Amino acid sequence: MAKDERMEKVVNLLERRGFLFASGQIYGTMAGFFDFGNYGTLLKRKIEQNWWNFFVDTRHEVVGIDGSIVSSSAIWNASGHLAEFSDPLIECKKCRAKFRADSLIEDELKISVEGKSLDNINKLIIENKLVCQNCKGELEIASSFNLMFKTQVGASEDESSIAYLRPETAQMIFINFKQVQMSSRKKLPFGIAQIGKAFRNEISPRNFVFRCREFSQMEMEFFVHPEKLDECQISENELDLEINALTEKMQESKENERKTTFASLLNGKSIGTKWHAYWIIKAYEWFLGLGIKKENLRIRQHVKTELSHYSSETWDLEYNYPWGWKELSGIANRGDFDLKQHMLGSKKDLTYFDDETKAKVLPVVIEPSFGLERALLTVIIDAFEEKLDGEEKKTILHLNSSVAPIEVAIFPLMKKDGLAQKALEIFGMLRKNMACEYDEAGSIGRRYARQDEIGTPYCLTIDYDTLKDETITIRERDSTLQKRIKINECVEIIGNLLKGGKF
Ligand code: GLY
Repeated sequence: MAKDERMEKVVNLLERRGFLFASGQIYGTMAGFFDFGNYGTLLKRKIEQNWWNFFVDTRHEVVGIDGSIVSSSAIWNASGHLAEFSDPLIECKKCRAKFRADSLIEDELKISVEGKSLDNINKLIIENKLVCQNCKGELEIASSFNLMFKTQVGASEDESSIAYLRPETAQMIFINFKQVQMSSRKKLPFGIAQIGKAFRNEISPRNFVFRCREFSQMEMEFFVHPEKLDECQISENELDLEINALTEKMQESKENERKTTFASLLNGKSIGTKWHAYWIIKAYEWFLGLGIKKENLRIRQHVKTELSHYSSETWDLEYNYPWGWKELSGIANRGDFDLKQHMLGSKKDLTYFDDETKAKVLPVVIEPSFGLERALLTVIIDAFEEKLDGEEKKTILHLNSSVAPIEVAIFPLMKKDGLAQKALEIFGMLRKNMACEYDEAGSIGRRYARQDEIGTPYCLTIDYDTLKDETITIRERDSTLQKRIKINECVEIIGNLLKGGKF
C-alpha cells in the first residue's frame, strides 16, 4: 500500500469509528484542533496512564505536578519563548496565503532543512525560484513567526493583563522546582513529571493530529547534580539494546542511520552523558512496551543549528511515518538554562543545597518530552493493517492490549432464547475488571470485524451450549483462533491474556 494511501485510510478509520475528528464540525472547523470521541478518549487515557505508570508511579525518585495553563508574560520572557519560540513564515505577494517556509522547501525540493537558519531558508527559496503553493505567485522574504497564543487576564487592557497559554508544560515544573523539591523532600537526582495541555499557534498544522495547535504533553524534568551527570546505573541489558541511530557526525557526512547499541553511543561520546542515555533508553523502552515496532524507530541527534534555545544536546526518538522520519519524542539536555533564567527573572533563589558538598548548586536538567496525540497517532499507524478476506477488505488494528480502548467484546449468538440475557450477565461481571463492549447487532462475522478495526484483542460469544455447560467461545484478534473456556474462569483467563499470556 502506498504510504499516502495508508495515512488516508488511518484518518478515515479514526474519523469513521469516532476516535477523533476535527473540532467544531457543525460550525466549520479550525485547522489544528481536534475532539476525541469514545474510543479515542479511552485510548488517550490508556496511553496517558501507561506513561504515568512507567515514568512516575513505578519510580521512587519522580513526583508529579499539575500546573496552570495560562501564565504571565514574565515567565515566558524569562524562559526565552517570547523571543525565540518561532517558525519561519512566508507569505505570497499575490494571494497573501501564508506558509511555513521550511515545510514549503521540504515539500517542493524533497530535502530536509532541519536546523537551517532563516537566511539559509530564504536563500534556498530564492535560488530554487519557489512560488506560492496556492496560486504560484511570487513570495515575500521569510520572517520569524512567534508560536505563542496570547490572551488577556481580567478586565483591564494594559500591558500587565497580557498572558499566554503555555507552549510547553515544562516551564510550570521549572518555576515550581524549589517548592516541589522542598515539599516532597527530594534529593538530587530526582524528577518532576507532568501531563497536560500545551498550545502552539502553528503556521500550518498538518498530518492530522501529528502537528496541531492544541495538544497534550507528557514531560519530565530530571534534575541532576551538575558534576554527577555520569553517576547513573544503566543495566548491561539496556546498554546492549540495539537501536538505529543517526548521530550529528553521520548527518554531517550524509550517512544513513546505523544499527548500534547504547554502550557504543556512550563509549564513542555521541551521547554526552550517562543520565541522558538513560532517559533515551527509557523513552525507547516505553514505546516498545506500547507495541511500536523496533524497525520503525530510530534516534537522531539534533545538529547544532537545530537545537532549541535552551538545549545543549537533544536526541529525537523518530518514527518512520508515511511522510518520512519525524520526531515522536525528544530527549534534551537543558543544562541549567531554565532555572538560571527564572532566577534572573524572578530574583528568587532556585539553587539546591547539596548536603554532601555543603554547597549550593543549580541542577542540570535532562528532559524526556512526549506529545500524547502524536504517540496515539503513531500507535495507530504502527498497528494498522488492511487485508483481503475473500473479496472484502478488512481492517485490523493490532493494538497492544495495554492500550486497546476495548479489551473484550461480548456477543450473544442470538438475541432470543435467553442468550442476550446471559451475555449481559457476563458483560456485567467482566466490566468490573476490564474495558468491555456489548454488541448484539448483525452477524458474528460483522461483529468480529467491527472489533478488529478498533483493536479489541478478544471477543466472547455466548451460544446455546453456554446455556447447557456454562462455557463460552473466546476468539483472539491477531490469530483469529477460537477456544471454549468456562464462565467462572474467564476473568482470570482473560486477565492473564491481557497481561501478555499465551492464547
Ligand atoms: N519541552 C519540550 C518541548 O515542548 O518541545
